[in-house]
Amino acid sequence: MKTILIATQKPFAKVAVNQMKQIAEEKGYNVVLLEKYAEQTDFEKAVTDCDAIIIRSDLATKAVLDAAKNLKIIVRAGAGYDNIDLAAATANNIVAMNTPGQNSNAVAELVFGMMVFAARNGYDGKDGIELRGKKLGIHAYGNVVRYVAEIARGFGMAVYAFDPYVSKEKMQAEGVTPVNSIEELYSTCQYVSLHIPATSETKKSINFSLLNKMPQGAVLVNTARKEVIDEDGLLQMMENRSDFKYLSDIAPDCAHVFAEKFEGNYFFTPKKLGAQTAEANINAGIAAVNQIIDFFETGNATYKVNK
Ligand code: 3PG
Repeated sequence: MKTILIATQKPFAKVAVNQMKQIAEEKGYNVVLLEKYAEQTDFEKAVTDCDAIIIRSDLATKAVLDAAKNLKIIVRAGAGYDNIDLAAATANNIVAMNTPGQNSNAVAELVFGMMVFAARNGYDGKDGIELRGKKLGIHAYGNVVRYVAEIARGFGMAVYAFDPYVSKEKMQAEGVTPVNSIEELYSTCQYVSLHIPATSETKKSINFSLLNKMPQGAVLVNTARKEVIDEDGLLQMMENRSDFKYLSDIAPDCAHVFAEKFEGNYFFTPKKLGAQTAEANINAGIAAVNQIIDFFETGNATYKVNK
Protein backbone atom coordinates (compact mmCIF):
# COMPACT_ATOMS: atom_id res chain seq x y z
CA MET A 1 0.00 0.00 0.00
CA LYS A 2 1.36 3.43 -0.97
CA THR A 3 1.59 6.17 1.64
CA ILE A 4 0.73 9.82 1.09
CA LEU A 5 2.18 12.18 3.69
CA ILE A 6 0.27 15.45 4.17
CA ALA A 7 2.87 17.74 5.74
CA THR A 8 1.41 21.11 6.61
CA GLN A 9 2.87 23.47 9.15
CA LYS A 10 -0.23 25.59 8.47
CA PRO A 11 -2.87 22.83 8.31
CA PHE A 12 -5.67 22.56 5.79
CA ALA A 13 -9.18 23.13 7.16
CA LYS A 14 -10.37 19.96 8.87
CA VAL A 15 -13.16 19.49 6.34
CA ALA A 16 -10.56 19.45 3.55
CA VAL A 17 -8.33 16.92 5.33
CA ASN A 18 -11.30 14.62 5.89
CA GLN A 19 -12.23 14.70 2.22
CA MET A 20 -8.63 14.21 1.11
CA LYS A 21 -8.27 11.18 3.39
CA GLN A 22 -11.53 9.70 2.23
CA ILE A 23 -10.62 9.96 -1.46
CA ALA A 24 -7.14 8.52 -0.93
CA GLU A 25 -8.26 5.69 1.36
CA GLU A 26 -11.09 4.66 -0.97
CA LYS A 27 -8.44 4.24 -3.68
CA GLY A 28 -6.31 2.11 -1.37
CA TYR A 29 -3.75 4.66 -0.21
CA ASN A 30 -2.54 5.14 3.33
CA VAL A 31 -2.60 8.76 4.55
CA VAL A 32 -0.25 10.11 7.22
CA LEU A 33 -0.72 13.58 8.68
CA LEU A 34 2.07 15.84 9.93
CA GLU A 35 0.51 19.12 11.00
CA LYS A 36 1.84 22.20 12.85
CA TYR A 37 5.28 20.64 13.16
CA ALA A 38 7.70 22.70 15.22
CA GLU A 39 11.00 22.06 13.46
CA GLN A 40 12.06 21.48 9.87
CA THR A 41 13.81 18.35 11.12
CA ASP A 42 10.37 16.96 12.08
CA PHE A 43 9.46 17.17 8.40
CA GLU A 44 12.76 15.56 7.39
CA LYS A 45 12.13 12.64 9.76
CA ALA A 46 8.52 12.13 8.67
CA VAL A 47 9.30 11.54 4.99
CA THR A 48 11.35 8.34 5.30
CA ASP A 49 8.69 5.87 4.16
CA CYS A 50 6.24 7.88 2.09
CA ASP A 51 5.61 7.49 -1.64
CA ALA A 52 3.95 10.87 -2.11
CA ILE A 53 3.88 14.16 -0.21
CA ILE A 54 1.36 16.99 -0.18
CA ILE A 55 2.57 20.34 1.15
CA ARG A 56 1.47 23.96 1.27
CA SER A 57 4.16 26.59 1.89
CA ASP A 58 6.22 23.96 3.68
CA LEU A 59 9.87 23.88 2.72
CA ALA A 60 10.65 20.87 0.56
CA THR A 61 14.40 21.32 0.84
CA LYS A 62 17.15 19.10 -0.53
CA ALA A 63 17.44 17.58 2.96
CA VAL A 64 13.75 16.62 2.90
CA LEU A 65 13.87 15.25 -0.64
CA ASP A 66 17.12 13.34 -0.08
CA ALA A 67 15.65 11.76 3.06
CA ALA A 68 12.51 10.59 1.26
CA LYS A 69 13.94 7.41 -0.21
CA ASN A 70 10.63 6.05 -1.62
CA LEU A 71 9.26 9.38 -2.78
CA LYS A 72 7.98 9.54 -6.35
CA ILE A 73 5.84 12.68 -6.29
CA ILE A 74 5.46 15.85 -4.24
CA VAL A 75 2.49 18.13 -4.80
CA ARG A 76 2.35 21.68 -3.59
CA ALA A 77 -1.39 22.19 -2.92
CA GLY A 78 -1.44 25.73 -4.23
CA ALA A 79 0.07 27.93 -6.90
CA GLY A 80 3.59 28.99 -5.93
CA TYR A 81 6.23 26.29 -5.82
CA ASP A 82 9.20 28.44 -4.82
CA ASN A 83 9.28 26.37 -1.60
CA ILE A 84 10.35 23.20 -3.43
CA ASP A 85 13.99 22.57 -4.30
CA LEU A 86 13.21 21.58 -7.89
CA ALA A 87 16.80 20.62 -8.72
CA ALA A 88 16.86 18.22 -5.75
CA ALA A 89 13.50 16.79 -6.82
CA THR A 90 14.79 16.15 -10.33
CA ALA A 91 18.06 14.70 -9.06
CA ASN A 92 16.06 12.22 -6.96
CA ASN A 93 13.67 11.37 -9.81
CA ILE A 94 10.78 12.95 -7.93
CA VAL A 95 7.97 14.62 -9.85
CA ALA A 96 7.03 18.00 -8.38
CA MET A 97 3.62 19.46 -9.14
CA ASN A 98 1.43 22.36 -8.10
CA THR A 99 -2.36 22.66 -8.30
CA PRO A 100 -2.81 25.82 -10.37
CA GLY A 101 -6.01 27.82 -10.02
CA GLN A 102 -7.45 25.89 -7.08
CA ASN A 103 -7.11 28.60 -4.46
CA SER A 104 -7.34 31.61 -6.78
CA ASN A 105 -10.74 32.90 -5.73
CA ALA A 106 -9.76 32.94 -2.05
CA VAL A 107 -6.70 35.05 -2.86
CA ALA A 108 -8.71 37.38 -5.10
CA GLU A 109 -11.28 37.97 -2.36
CA LEU A 110 -8.49 38.88 0.07
CA VAL A 111 -7.17 41.46 -2.42
CA PHE A 112 -10.49 43.29 -2.20
CA GLY A 113 -10.88 42.67 1.52
CA MET A 114 -7.60 44.52 2.09
CA MET A 115 -8.41 47.25 -0.46
CA VAL A 116 -11.76 48.10 1.15
CA PHE A 117 -10.18 47.98 4.62
CA ALA A 118 -7.53 50.50 3.52
CA ALA A 119 -10.00 52.68 1.56
CA ARG A 120 -11.97 53.08 4.81
CA ASN A 121 -8.85 53.76 6.90
CA GLY A 122 -9.05 50.47 8.75
CA TYR A 123 -12.69 51.24 9.68
CA ASP A 124 -11.62 53.99 12.06
CA GLY A 125 -14.64 56.17 11.29
CA LYS A 126 -12.71 58.91 9.43
CA ASP A 127 -13.47 59.90 5.82
CA GLY A 128 -12.54 57.13 3.43
CA ILE A 129 -12.60 56.75 -0.32
CA GLU A 130 -14.44 54.42 -2.68
CA LEU A 131 -13.03 51.91 -5.13
CA ARG A 132 -15.57 52.69 -7.87
CA GLY A 133 -14.01 54.50 -10.80
CA LYS A 134 -10.43 53.84 -9.65
CA LYS A 135 -7.84 52.14 -11.85
CA LEU A 136 -6.58 48.74 -10.78
CA GLY A 137 -3.37 47.44 -12.33
CA ILE A 138 -2.74 43.72 -12.33
CA HIS A 139 0.94 42.83 -12.37
CA ALA A 140 1.19 39.40 -14.04
CA TYR A 141 -1.76 37.64 -15.53
CA GLY A 142 -2.10 34.26 -13.83
CA ASN A 143 -4.99 32.24 -12.45
CA VAL A 144 -5.91 34.64 -9.64
CA VAL A 145 -6.42 37.43 -12.12
CA ARG A 146 -9.60 36.06 -13.65
CA TYR A 147 -11.24 36.40 -10.24
CA VAL A 148 -9.60 39.73 -9.42
CA ALA A 149 -10.84 41.19 -12.72
CA GLU A 150 -14.34 39.83 -12.20
CA ILE A 151 -14.62 41.24 -8.67
CA ALA A 152 -13.05 44.56 -9.77
CA ARG A 153 -15.73 44.96 -12.40
CA GLY A 154 -18.36 44.49 -9.67
CA PHE A 155 -16.72 47.35 -7.77
CA GLY A 156 -16.80 49.51 -10.90
CA MET A 157 -13.02 49.68 -11.22
CA ALA A 158 -11.19 49.95 -14.53
CA VAL A 159 -8.78 47.03 -14.83
CA TYR A 160 -5.37 47.18 -16.54
CA ALA A 161 -2.72 44.48 -16.76
CA PHE A 162 0.84 43.84 -17.79
CA ASP A 163 2.22 40.41 -18.58
CA PRO A 164 4.68 39.87 -21.44
CA TYR A 165 3.75 36.16 -21.53
CA VAL A 166 0.00 36.63 -22.05
CA SER A 167 -1.57 37.92 -25.25
CA LYS A 168 -3.29 41.27 -25.29
CA GLU A 169 -6.23 39.65 -27.07
CA LYS A 170 -6.81 37.30 -24.13
CA MET A 171 -6.76 40.20 -21.68
CA GLN A 172 -9.12 42.26 -23.83
CA ALA A 173 -11.51 39.32 -24.19
CA GLU A 174 -11.64 39.20 -20.38
CA GLY A 175 -12.45 42.93 -20.11
CA VAL A 176 -8.94 43.95 -19.10
CA THR A 177 -6.94 46.71 -20.78
CA PRO A 178 -3.39 45.56 -21.57
CA VAL A 179 -0.53 48.05 -21.16
CA ASN A 180 2.87 47.91 -22.84
CA SER A 181 5.24 47.94 -19.91
CA ILE A 182 5.48 47.55 -16.16
CA GLU A 183 6.26 51.26 -15.91
CA GLU A 184 3.07 52.12 -17.79
CA LEU A 185 1.05 49.90 -15.44
CA TYR A 186 2.40 51.60 -12.33
CA SER A 187 2.09 55.13 -13.71
CA THR A 188 -1.48 54.50 -14.87
CA CYS A 189 -2.97 52.80 -11.83
CA GLN A 190 -3.65 54.10 -8.34
CA TYR A 191 -4.06 50.49 -7.20
CA VAL A 192 -1.63 47.75 -8.20
CA SER A 193 -2.17 44.12 -7.27
CA LEU A 194 0.89 41.86 -7.46
CA HIS A 195 0.56 38.37 -8.90
CA ILE A 196 4.13 37.58 -9.89
CA PRO A 197 5.81 34.41 -8.66
CA ALA A 198 9.04 34.65 -6.66
CA THR A 199 11.78 33.75 -9.15
CA SER A 200 15.36 34.88 -9.62
CA GLU A 201 14.07 37.54 -12.05
CA THR A 202 11.24 38.86 -9.90
CA LYS A 203 12.82 38.84 -6.43
CA LYS A 204 13.30 42.45 -5.21
CA SER A 205 11.96 43.70 -8.55
CA ILE A 206 9.32 45.99 -7.04
CA ASN A 207 11.54 48.91 -6.21
CA PHE A 208 11.30 52.60 -5.40
CA SER A 209 11.60 53.89 -8.95
CA LEU A 210 8.69 51.70 -10.04
CA LEU A 211 6.49 52.46 -7.04
CA ASN A 212 7.19 56.18 -7.26
CA LYS A 213 5.58 56.23 -10.71
CA MET A 214 2.20 55.52 -9.10
CA PRO A 215 -0.34 58.34 -8.97
CA GLN A 216 -1.36 60.12 -5.74
CA GLY A 217 -3.21 57.92 -3.28
CA ALA A 218 -1.25 54.90 -4.47
CA VAL A 219 -1.95 51.49 -2.95
CA LEU A 220 0.17 48.38 -3.53
CA VAL A 221 -1.53 45.08 -2.73
CA ASN A 222 0.77 42.08 -2.34
CA THR A 223 -0.84 38.66 -2.18
CA ALA A 224 2.09 37.20 -4.13
CA ARG A 225 5.34 36.81 -2.17
CA LYS A 226 7.18 39.18 0.16
CA GLU A 227 10.44 38.32 -1.65
CA VAL A 228 9.40 40.20 -4.80
CA ILE A 229 9.59 43.49 -2.91
CA ASP A 230 12.81 45.49 -2.63
CA GLU A 231 12.25 46.38 1.01
CA ASP A 232 14.75 49.28 1.01
CA GLY A 233 12.84 50.76 -1.92
CA LEU A 234 9.53 50.14 -0.19
CA LEU A 235 10.72 51.98 2.93
CA GLN A 236 11.97 54.82 0.73
CA MET A 237 8.51 55.01 -0.84
CA MET A 238 6.87 55.07 2.60
CA GLU A 239 9.22 57.90 3.68
CA ASN A 240 8.78 59.97 0.51
CA ARG A 241 5.11 59.42 -0.23
CA SER A 242 2.80 59.81 2.75
CA ASP A 243 -0.11 59.18 0.34
CA PHE A 244 1.12 55.60 -0.31
CA LYS A 245 -0.30 52.50 1.37
CA TYR A 246 1.15 48.99 1.38
CA LEU A 247 -1.18 46.04 1.97
CA SER A 248 0.40 42.63 2.18
CA ASP A 249 -0.60 39.05 2.85
CA ILE A 250 2.32 38.46 5.22
CA ALA A 251 4.51 41.09 6.81
CA PRO A 252 7.80 42.18 5.20
CA ASP A 253 11.04 41.55 7.06
CA CYS A 254 11.14 45.28 7.86
CA ALA A 255 7.69 45.21 9.53
CA HIS A 256 9.11 46.73 12.74
CA VAL A 257 9.97 49.93 10.81
CA PHE A 258 6.37 50.14 9.59
CA ALA A 259 5.12 49.74 13.16
CA GLU A 260 7.45 52.53 14.35
CA LYS A 261 6.92 55.03 11.55
CA PHE A 262 4.02 54.35 9.23
CA GLU A 263 0.98 53.58 11.37
CA GLY A 264 -2.22 53.87 9.33
CA ASN A 265 -0.49 53.44 5.96
CA TYR A 266 -0.14 49.69 5.92
CA PHE A 267 -1.85 46.44 6.72
CA PHE A 268 -0.16 43.04 7.06
CA THR A 269 -1.88 39.74 7.71
CA PRO A 270 -0.45 37.98 10.77
CA LYS A 271 0.38 34.92 8.67
CA LYS A 272 -0.04 34.11 5.01
CA LEU A 273 -3.78 33.55 4.74
CA GLY A 274 -4.82 34.36 1.17
CA ALA A 275 -5.62 30.73 0.49
CA GLN A 276 -6.82 29.96 4.00
CA THR A 277 -10.49 29.26 3.33
CA ALA A 278 -12.35 25.97 3.61
CA GLU A 279 -13.19 26.17 -0.10
CA ALA A 280 -9.63 26.82 -1.24
CA ASN A 281 -8.28 24.08 1.04
CA ILE A 282 -10.84 21.62 -0.28
CA ASN A 283 -10.15 22.57 -3.91
CA ALA A 284 -6.36 22.50 -3.66
CA GLY A 285 -6.19 19.55 -1.27
CA ILE A 286 -8.46 17.33 -3.31
CA ALA A 287 -6.73 18.34 -6.53
CA ALA A 288 -3.40 17.32 -4.95
CA VAL A 289 -4.75 13.92 -3.90
CA ASN A 290 -6.31 13.29 -7.30
CA GLN A 291 -3.13 14.32 -9.12
CA ILE A 292 -1.12 11.86 -7.01
CA ILE A 293 -3.56 9.01 -7.62
CA ASP A 294 -3.70 9.80 -11.32
CA PHE A 295 0.09 9.93 -11.49
CA PHE A 296 0.48 6.52 -9.85
CA GLU A 297 -2.32 4.92 -11.84
CA THR A 298 -1.87 6.43 -15.31
CA GLY A 299 1.44 8.29 -15.23
CA ASN A 300 -0.35 11.59 -15.84
CA ALA A 301 2.13 14.39 -15.00
CA THR A 302 0.23 17.34 -16.45
CA TYR A 303 1.07 19.74 -13.63
CA LYS A 304 4.71 18.76 -13.32
CA VAL A 305 6.86 21.83 -12.64
CA ASN A 306 10.38 20.36 -12.56
CA LYS A 307 12.34 19.22 -15.57
C1 3PG B 1 -0.08 29.69 -3.11
O1 3PG B 1 1.03 29.84 -3.63
O2 3PG B 1 -0.92 28.88 -3.54
C2 3PG B 1 -0.48 30.58 -1.95
O3 3PG B 1 0.57 31.40 -1.56
C3 3PG B 1 -1.04 29.81 -0.77
O4 3PG B 1 -0.07 29.37 0.12
P1 3PG B 1 -0.50 28.51 1.40
O5 3PG B 1 -0.96 27.17 0.93
O6 3PG B 1 0.73 28.44 2.23
O7 3PG B 1 -1.61 29.23 2.10
